[in-house]
Amino acid sequence: MTKLDLDISDVSKLPEACKKLVEFAGKIKVFAINGEMGAGKTTFVKELCKVLGSNDNFSSPTYSIVNEYQSPIGKLFHFDFYRVKDAEELFDLGLEEYIDSGNYCFIEWPDLAETFLPIPYLTISIQHKQNNRYFCAEIIE
Ligand SMILES: Nc1ncnc2c1ncn2[C@@H]1O[C@H](COP(=O)(O)OP(=O)(O)OP(=O)(O)O)[C@@H](O)[C@H]1O
Ligand SMILES: [Mg+2]
Repeated sequence: MTKLDLDISDVSKLPEACKKLVEFAGKIKVFAINGEMGAGKTTFVKELCKVLGSNDNFSSPTYSIVNEYQSPIGKLFHFDFYRVKDAEELFDLGLEEYIDSGNYCFIEWPDLAETFLPIPYLTISIQHKQNNRYFCAEIIE
């Protein structure tokens, strides 16, 4: 199975969805998360981090390019490249090193990061339409 659809119609469904996703991803640690503004990317990542055992404070919104959360399985890296202008900026940020670290890397607005993504990686699509949300993940290998 290389594709997974999940029910994320309500935030209460997220913990279960995240557990299934982590299981589906297996050894894959790099997740490219696509979806329009407000689709629910950040909300999903924060829930993923909780499911992975992080107790960091996720209540306040974060707008930095990279956030680091502590967890029992090591650091979890959460990127948001919405404001990034070109791939050089990602190189300067050290994206390669983050990815090579072997820690989980969750990337919002991943288009410019495409050349940095290791094979296999996980691509996720979150769609928000008429008050409903659709989630699909696919392993790219
Ligand atoms: N699965 C969900 N079910 C219901 N509401 C949700 C869900 N996911 C997110 N939301 C709500 O949608 C809003 C936007 O969510 P979020 O900030 O996660 O989107 P985003 O895709 O990260 O946006 P951006 O592109 O601005 O980074 C929030 O108010 C959040 O509570
Ligand atoms: Mg976001």
